[in-house]
Amino acid sequence: MLRIKKLIVHYGPFIALNEISLEIKEGEIVALIGPNKAGKTTLLLTLSGILETTEGRIFFQGEDITNRDPHKIVASGIGHVPQGRHIFPTLTVFDNLIMGAYIRRGMREAVKEDLAWLYEMFPILKERGQQRAGTLSGGEQQMLAIGRALMGRPRLLMLDEPSSGLAPRYIDEIFAAFQEMNRRGLTLFIVEQEIQLSLAIAHRGYILRNGRLIKGGPSSVLLESQEVQALCWG
Ligand SMILES: Nc1ncnc2c1ncn2[C@@H]1O[C@H](COP(=O)(O)OP(=O)(O)OP(=O)(O)O)[C@@H](O)[C@H]1O
Ligand SMILES: [Mg+2]
Repeated sequence: MLRIKKLIVHYGPFIALNEISLEIKEGEIVALIGPNKAGKTTLLLTLSGILETTEGRIFFQGEDITNRDPHKIVASGIGHVPQGRHIFPTLTVFDNLIMGAYIRRGMREAVKEDLAWLYEMFPILKERGQQRAGTLSGGEQQMLAIGRALMGRPRLLMLDEPSSGLAPRYIDEIFAAFQEMNRRGLTLFIVEQEIQLSLAIAHRGYILRNGRLIKGGPSSVLLESQEVQALCWG
């Protein structure tokens, strides 16, 4: 579904991503793990078209989307829940969700169906619908950020450290929702520092360090690997 070939990305003279090649198949949950500053966010921003590549190609569903405009990438079916959530704090929860559906004008019935499904997964978003989004707790804001991305009905959803700074009960709820989304056919690419947790739900994973992929494989194999042990225990 997504294929990245020898991707190189710079910030000025600094090489943030160095010859990254990876693949995500339709229906998979793939985890990208790695320490601070590894380049995880840079990779997601590049896939979303927000950062430009220096070299390499990105293919989504067989189409070359390298350096395409961000709004075209969203429209082609790639959703992105950014690090730090970035909801619209002064808009209501409901209006934030509707903003997520802006690329789907003229599809009111489908949008309604998706809202109903979303409210089943995250009932709090319905209860708090008329409240300003900025008044939600951190966990609720993360649910809202995820919900807003889902309202664009992506085929592939990319999440940048969704568990970051959240209380354990929110993390459990959000990760259970990821499995539910995946059962419904959504492909997920999850960037996480919570290694055990993300590999527990992922089919496969990759480890990124200093802008390079140092290992990839099935989650069960990665969990046993020296590289993951080193990340977990320093
Ligand atoms: N706008 C920028 N300009 C220059 N350098 C940057 C910029 N953004 C990130 N970097 C550098 O690129 C490298 C990768 O950063 P990135 O944010 O992608 O890492 P990350 O793996 O997402 O880290 P974290 O776990 O802290 O979110 C870091 O060395 C960072 O300092
Ligand atoms: Mg990051």
